[in-house]
Amino acid sequence: MATEAEAQWVLTATGRSPTNIAVIKYWGKRDEALILPVNDSISVTLDPDHLSATTTVAASPAFPSDRMWLNGKEIALSGGRFQSCLREIRKRARDVEDEKKGIKVKKEDWEKLHVHIASYNNFPTAAGLASSAAGFACLVFTLGKLMNVNEDYGELSSIARQGSGSACRSIYGGFVKWCMGKNDDGSDSMAVQLVDESHWDDLVIIIAVVSSKQKETSSTSGMRDTVETSPLLQYRAQTVVPGRILKMEDAIKNRNFESFARLTCADSNQFHAVCLDTSPPIFYMNDTSHRIISLVEKWNHAEGTPQVAYTFDAGPNAVLIARNRKTASLVLQRLLYCFPPQENDLDSYMVGDKSILSDAGVQSLADIEALPPPPEMKSPSQKFKGDVSYFICSRPGAGPKVLTDESHTLIDSATGLAK
Ligand code: DP6
Repeated sequence: MATEAEAQWVLTATGRSPTNIAVIKYWGKRDEALILPVNDSISVTLDPDHLSATTTVAASPAFPSDRMWLNGKEIALSGGRFQSCLREIRKRARDVEDEKKGIKVKKEDWEKLHVHIASYNNFPTAAGLASSAAGFACLVFTLGKLMNVNEDYGELSSIARQGSGSACRSIYGGFVKWCMGKNDDGSDSMAVQLVDESHWDDLVIIIAVVSSKQKETSSTSGMRDTVETSPLLQYRAQTVVPGRILKMEDAIKNRNFESFARLTCADSNQFHAVCLDTSPPIFYMNDTSHRIISLVEKWNHAEGTPQVAYTFDAGPNAVLIARNRKTASLVLQRLLYCFPPQENDLDSYMVGDKSILSDAGVQSLADIEALPPPPEMKSPSQKFKGDVSYFICSRPGAGPKVLTDESHTLIDSATGLAK
């Protein structure tokens, strides 16, 4: 039995992890339980100031069970994926001593201690942006800190993978490759950093959050159906992706934007092609997504070489990667021309790095109305007000970090409950 003094203590750790966008997509598992993919994938980590998860984990002898709150609401922790991450981190826990609080936890005690987890995304979950990648990476990273797990990022990546495949890439900043691995137990399926976020720091990432009323198929069930029914997936995984991975690594290392953009667009399109090749077919992109592709394709064609790459995940949102600020502001002018805001509020139409608006010469709604039609467009009178909910402007960013400032803590250390 714990003494009363022991029962009082609550030990906490808080961390923040970025989300990531794949430029060579992960789609399809060869092992559902361990989350082992059918091909390698490559992603860029987004600046955590714009898109990230913050998680506080707490342990106390006073907690009778594991509990979790997401964006302030308690959620069930019964899912196998949470349990896998918790089990793997607990296995690697080591002695912890907090001299200031007079707390000592022995390695073997962690098996008996329950945890409370509170997590929060700094972007709307409803936007349909990959929140599970940031969330599971943050959970694993922060639990690792709380339980003093050896800082082996490869191992943390492989544990985060068991929460959500794409989460294994959010353990690092910059450009990241998830190596599919060969082993049946998944021990060699983990991400590695290709280059850090400073290597190619003139890239600008603009996300168009596309309005959609449709309930989308989750990645997990969508890729299961694809594995079971799409003959094209085999060809993609075995023949196309291995070559693309090598070319993409080369493009990133040499900052070869032309090659990077061609590969990114082609891989996004092939991912959506295997979705269409699934029975029943899966449609993630909608008319707005297609209009954005066409806008970018026309502009790239008019310029002679690609200025902007596009990529779409399991939803209609467009992620545009521009070669630099100049090209980002030019593509933004085109997007704002075609997709003016529904609400009369420019400030909420651009989140993240809002300064891109002034680069595009847009300070007011009147400036959007005054934008000239893009010369390369055939029917420039077409405008689709309200089809984009808002834009996010970001850049390649850093990996997870510990937040030591008390103001970031999401769990009250007196009660052990979410604030
Ligand atoms: C289209 O990682 O969300 O974003 O492993 O089942 O949790 P689970 O799937 P998830 O799938 C992401 C798919 C994707 C492409 C990618 O991020 O590589």
